[in-house]
Amino acid sequence: MYDVLDSRSVLEVLQPVQDPELRKSLVDLNMIRNVKIDGGKVSFTLVLTTPACPLREFIVEDCEKAVKKLPGVTEVNVEVTAETPQQKSLPDRTGVPGVKNILAVSSGKGGVGKSTVAVNIAVALAQTGAKVGLLDADIYGPNDPTMLGLADAQIVVRSTDKGEVLEPAFNHGVKLVSMGFLIDRDQPVIWRGPMLNGVIRQFLYQVEWGELDYLIVDMPPGTGDAQLTLTQAVPMSGAVIVTTPQTVALLDSRKGLKMFQQLNIEVLGIVENMSYFIPPDMPDKQYDIFGSGGGSKTAAELGVPLLGCIPLEISTRVGGDNGVPIVVADPDSASAKALKAIALAIAGKVSVAALT
Ligand SMILES: Nc1ncnc2c1ncn2[C@@H]1O[C@H](COP(=O)(O)OP(=O)(O)O)[C@@H](O)[C@H]1O
Ligand SMILES: [Mg+2]
Repeated sequence: MYDVLDSRSVLEVLQPVQDPELRKSLVDLNMIRNVKIDGGKVSFTLVLTTPACPLREFIVEDCEKAVKKLPGVTEVNVEVTAETPQQKSLPDRTGVPGVKNILAVSSGKGGVGKSTVAVNIAVALAQTGAKVGLLDADIYGPNDPTMLGLADAQIVVRSTDKGEVLEPAFNHGVKLVSMGFLIDRDQPVIWRGPMLNGVIRQFLYQVEWGELDYLIVDMPPGTGDAQLTLTQAVPMSGAVIVTTPQTVALLDSRKGLKMFQQLNIEVLGIVENMSYFIPPDMPDKQYDIFGSGGGSKTAAELGVPLLGCIPLEISTRVGGDNGVPIVVADPDSASAKALKAIALAIAGKVSVAALT
């Protein structure tokens, strides 16, 4: 069948190999490129849809196995790179040039750990090699500068021929803009709907974001008018809802889910935070302070995936206060592991949403 070892025969044996998330042939998805043959040595580039691909080892292994079946092959070298696909365009919402995917991190109520999740997910994605920005849309209580270690950062405003532009602050691999950079920290913000819209538009279109694979938007808590305005202003490709196991928080997250569904924004899944307590002096113990299983129950009820559960750990709070997110400060802790797995799950779902 394969008399000569050439790039065509390599692509033919790779044809049945699928991307496990997209469930389509890698060859059809144009993820196999640059096939080269040198005697019995076959090399090619595998272009994944995100540098944060949770299944990359499996895909590489499947490719190697398939190619090794060809007679005459002595060695297979797979070079792995990534090109994050651009989200589908949304009617009436203009995308941000250079920004491929905008994701909302949302919650029905405050204090459930939305900012903690947004910041750590942003940093975790950057750790995989993705280009990441964080837009702190929590106008009332902007915490992201502190959590990202940028509490004292000055944001630079430059005059250009396109008007004034903001240069985002940068730390832990993540670009950040926040209301916290523009207001006096101790001053309460009295906010009005139209102004909110204006500031958010400025944060989207008048910031030098550059090329981004993911722009994470830390949404203000709740499902009121401000959230609706924001959700309509920002061309989001997906939303993640953060909840705690408590019933009230869960009820609120149901409302949040409905809001996104009404606006045709795909809810990528639910993150259950503060799922259980791990005492620092007894790291093998687990206490279900708020009850357990709420997140998975709600996820099942609402028909959206549970992206993961994050334990309540003192070090996670300390990481936020000190501006060294737990995925940097203690990457092997239970919280950091959960947050990193959640980041990979989100990246996978974004690719599926963009390509199917
Ligand atoms: N998993 C966790 N373990 C320990 N502390 C947490 C965890 N998640 C959040 N916190 C802490 O709880 C407080 C509220 O979290 P935050 O992320 O600011 O919530 P939100 O943005 O929803 O208001 C912060 O002090 C934060 O450090
Ligand atoms: Mg917050």
